[in-house]
Amino acid sequence: MASRTILVGAQWGDEGKGKIIDVLSESHNVIVRSQGGNNAGHTVEVGPEKFILHLIPSGILRKGTTCIIGNGTVIDPVALGKELSMLHGRGIRTQGRLFISERAHLVAPYHPAIDKSREKSAAKRKIGTTGRGIGPTYGDKIARVGLRMHELRNPAGLRAALKKRIGEANELCRFNGWEGVSLDVVKDYTAAAAVLRPYIADTVSLLHKLVEKDRDILFEGAQGTFLDIDFGTYPYVTSSNTTSGGACTGSGLPPHHVTKVVGVMKAYTTRVGEGPLPSDSSELADLLHGMGREFGATTGRARRCGWFDAVLTGFARRVNGIDDLAVTNIDGLDTFAAVKVCTGYRLDGKKQDTPPADIGDFARCQPVYKTFKGWRRDTSGCKSWRSLPPAARDYLKAIADLTGARLAIVSVGPKREQTLFL
Ligand code: IMP
Repeated sequence: MASRTILVGAQWGDEGKGKIIDVLSESHNVIVRSQGGNNAGHTVEVGPEKFILHLIPSGILRKGTTCIIGNGTVIDPVALGKELSMLHGRGIRTQGRLFISERAHLVAPYHPAIDKSREKSAAKRKIGTTGRGIGPTYGDKIARVGLRMHELRNPAGLRAALKKRIGEANELCRFNGWEGVSLDVVKDYTAAAAVLRPYIADTVSLLHKLVEKDRDILFEGAQGTFLDIDFGTYPYVTSSNTTSGGACTGSGLPPHHVTKVVGVMKAYTTRVGEGPLPSDSSELADLLHGMGREFGATTGRARRCGWFDAVLTGFARRVNGIDDLAVTNIDGLDTFAAVKVCTGYRLDGKKQDTPPADIGDFARCQPVYKTFKGWRRDTSGCKSWRSLPPAARDYLKAIADLTGARLAIVSVGPKREQTLFL
């Protein structure tokens, strides 16, 4: 039976999904992005080369794969145009391999402007967004006033619609005392839109044809469970469904076709942007940053770091239906004498084994830790499960058991060959 696998982040994004998708895309012919936009940053290292992809599925780096950007995504034509040029400049062909849903929504020039202005004026309630206009674009989609990819087929209509919307957006900006957008941006925007026109497709029909042909399909989740608009640490979340259900609504694949859900998680926890992080550890952050690790692929921001939090990953397993786990960055813990795992929270003196919906309560949760022996050995050269230090194996088994899913993949470094399959 063909595989139709959804890959999701089980934490706050940046779990190393890009690398795992790249590894899994060897056994999948079709790779689909179904939510988010160029707020994502998926890093893939192929031999001596390093690629950072924001919107184009990481599977594009494997010859012969078909890549789909589904209806649930939001697309900034200027940013996507730059990503295409980067790939073409490095010898990667995209024509005839990349298909963009005609139903995907467009990030218009005023969306990033509004995103940044809202953040600037929010003071204490700042989300810490990537500034890519993701929230305002999804906001327009839900308010039913968004622009969609199919409008790129009609350049005159797009120009007129943009001018009208820029006028309306500038009214909003004036009202709030924010900086507006000049009409000059329309020229660059429509030029970028023209580059994307050949890629626009009816991706629902395409996906169903590929299903009928029994193709192996991988859904490349972006961000992570705790950035999900419904299940994340609201309001410190992104604006799409980053959990497994989003793969279906964002692509047109019915749920009964899904064969497996893979959850990717780091051997510890990180998050960028604002919002609570119960297992926060400055000791861990200092060490990882000192090693040059944990800086954002999209914004370069230093990520906040915490111990592995099994309350979160257990919740992620439940809402996503995670079958298999891929644990990344185990090598980040190589130098510690002891490693901690958050196994529960205490809230107002009571045990709490699931993340509270109220962000105020979540911020008051006190982590309960279990301490594990460190392994103090370099794991980055390990080639098999057996060759990992026993203490590292015990730790990995424990975090998989606490999460409640099968440990299937362990990543000991960014390269394809630094991957252990169990
Ligand atoms: P937005 O998606 O730009 O609106 O940002 C909302 C929140 O999601 C912020 O905390 C961002 O830092 C976070 N975020 C968005 N995309 C990513 C990602 O790909 N990795 C990690 N965090 C992300």
